[in-house]
Amino acid sequence: MRNLLADLRDITGPGHVLAEPDVVAGYATDWTRRYTGLATCVVTPGSAAELADVVRACAADGARIIPQGGNTGLVGGSIPPASTDGLAAVIISTRRLTSLEPVDRASGQVTADAGVTIARLAAHAESAGLRYGVDLASRDSATVGGTIATNAGGIHAVRYGPTRSQVAGVQAVLADGSIVGNLSGLTAGSSGYDLAQLLTGSEGTLAVITQARLLLSPAEPAAAAELTGLIRAAVPGLLAAEYFDAAGLALVRQAAGLPSPLPAEYQGYLLAEIGGAADRQDYGHLLQQIARARLPGDTVLAQDARGMAALWAYRDRLTEAIATAGIPHKIDVAVPGGELGAFCAELGDVVRDAAGVRRAGRESAHVGSLQLIVFGHIGVGNLHVNVLGPDPADTQVDAAVARLAAAHGGSVAAEHGVGRAKTGWLGWTRTPAEISAMRAIKAALDPAGLLNPGVLLPPETATEPPERATT
Ligand code: FAD
Ligand code: MLT
Ligand code: ZN
Repeated sequence: MRNLLADLRDITGPGHVLAEPDVVAGYATDWTRRYTGLATCVVTPGSAAELADVVRACAADGARIIPQGGNTGLVGGSIPPASTDGLAAVIISTRRLTSLEPVDRASGQVTADAGVTIARLAAHAESAGLRYGVDLASRDSATVGGTIATNAGGIHAVRYGPTRSQVAGVQAVLADGSIVGNLSGLTAGSSGYDLAQLLTGSEGTLAVITQARLLLSPAEPAAAAELTGLIRAAVPGLLAAEYFDAAGLALVRQAAGLPSPLPAEYQGYLLAEIGGAADRQDYGHLLQQIARARLPGDTVLAQDARGMAALWAYRDRLTEAIATAGIPHKIDVAVPGGELGAFCAELGDVVRDAAGVRRAGRESAHVGSLQLIVFGHIGVGNLHVNVLGPDPADTQVDAAVARLAAAHGGSVAAEHGVGRAKTGWLGWTRTPAEISAMRAIKAALDPAGLLNPGVLLPPETATEPPERATT
């Protein structure tokens, strides 16, 4: 036993092998305090290689190995047995395996160490405009490794499925200390046993997971568009489907002194109005259908004119609330439904880049006040991107957002028109032949060019937007 402790200390450094009885007892007792086991020590390796050496040392000694993440499990799986027949029992805690790679936006995936908590993973995904599909009340302690090992379900499983549905690959250490796995994130391919799926739900009985490649889902407003599709399919008479984000809601609440519409706060909100139901019996039928659709998140329902007006206030007051906070850059674009997720995932960085926030580490003067607010008619893929902060005369942000929409097969102008603001970008959405045809129509009906010159059609020579706004 003494040799094992010495071997383990050699591998991880003495500070990472805990053997004081009081400390060990804490790790050997589960979250419920109902299950307590007997552990020789707790080891906290700092890398997969160290963890593999630890497993090898334990195996050489015949020691029991108990993988432990956040120790939030509720069935005694993360602690040693109460009796170990005189053999050593080593808890391998993943609390030092905390690396989190940058989100790979192209694949919508991320590689995380086993000890990363679900709360940290979720925040990381959110900062890239994406969402991790598993969430649970133990998020601040429960780990990537533990949730994979238990195939945790959580509060969003109705929508995203359990952890199994998010796992694209794992790296793990087998009982003989060998490191196996694949973190390439390839979702196609069937070259034998699927280790990632085998280890999902294996509860630490087959291997110790050290890293995982996880799938991320599009965040709002792509999720709102998906939800709109669900409502449309579930209930007849969808009249409106409007999206707004948390930043917009905060401005409206501040400007109008309104309470929060829901008990909890969310990243995005969908306001759907369903028409065509003439009496309360019909409303009952619609509510049943919504319930059957098992929509995610919180729902607040208004069934009378007063309640509906109260909810619409959050949406109707957006434009004024934003204008109260500053002079907004308003970029009205349309994006095809299938591209909304990718567009939204890139939007934040595109805006920050264009505003100079991320450029070469040199922050511009308005960094502190840069604010992105997104809302719009999500049912038809029409988003209003509002940016507060950049100089009103600067068109860099506007051009960057319009270009992003065009790059995703969308339109640089949706419902507000091209005006003077967007003439330079028309060519990103319409072909040269289409623009020539439009010029021919204009020339036929207004040969002297008297009507609204400079609106809609770009000057014959212009291909790019002006550097500075001229209006
Ligand atoms: P631990 O508790 O440390 O371990 C759990 C199991 O996984 C053990 O068998 C352990 O040996 C194994 N394990 C841990 N890490 C690894 C690894 N790296 N490699 C191999 N095996 C490993 N669960 C749900 O599914 N849905 C919920 O909604 C939910 N809500 C909860 C709310 C609260 C307040 C609490 C306290 C618990 C809740 N749980 C829920 C249970 C628990 O949070 C989950 O089971 C979670 O997946 C455990 O993760 P963990 O990192 O804490 O793992
Ligand atoms: C809206 O949908 O509220 C209008 O298009 C106004 C705006 O974009 O601010
Ligand atoms: Zn609009």
